[in-house]
Amino acid sequence: MLALAVETKDAYTEGHLRRLAYYGEQLALAGGLSTNAVRAVRYGGILHDIGKIGVDDAILRKPGSLTPTEYEQIKQHPEFGARIVAPMRFASEIQPIILAHHERWDGGGYPRGLQGADIPIGARIISIVDAFDAMTTDRPYRQALSRQEALRRLQAGSGVQWDAHLVEIFLNLVTYDKLFLASSDLKQDMEEFMQFLFT
Ligand SMILES: [Fe+2]
Repeated sequence: MLALAVETKDAYTEGHLRRLAYYGEQLALAGGLSTNAVRAVRYGGILHDIGKIGVDDAILRKPGSLTPTEYEQIKQHPEFGARIVAPMRFASEIQPIILAHHERWDGGGYPRGLQGADIPIGARIISIVDAFDAMTTDRPYRQALSRQEALRRLQAGSGVQWDAHLVEIFLNLVTYDKLFLASSDLKQDMEEFMQFLFT
């Protein structure tokens, strides 16, 4: 429920968070992560931007470029998010993903400027699939890029913005048509999510 609330607030296209969680799960599986880590990626994916609840709507919806002060506020959303999920039973697995989803492989990200393998692997995965889904869906200010162009841009950022090894695995999943699209069964997804939270 909270994740869907953020999705409406941020003017993301419908279903972005669910697709992202689904792609993230598949990349985590292909990357050989443990069952628990795969699950953390899935739910970390759904909740990664939950901290945007703490950011002013006017800033989130601002069409033009942000002032430095406004950007500073945006940059706090990973920390807000980690705080919001703290009471969850699985907080220790999900918090590192939420906290580090805007870090970059080259150290140029935020909030901590972590570099390379110091960035938790779940966050490295979410960063790739978030970018891919954002590029391949329509946004109010531009049309979706083709898959080909999205893959080209991921490749260009490989080893700079993103983990090169994970980018390679993801490119293979997409290129060889092994990436399954998200199910349209929201009810089933939500039931699984509630089970995850409360059992
Ligand atoms: Fe974010």
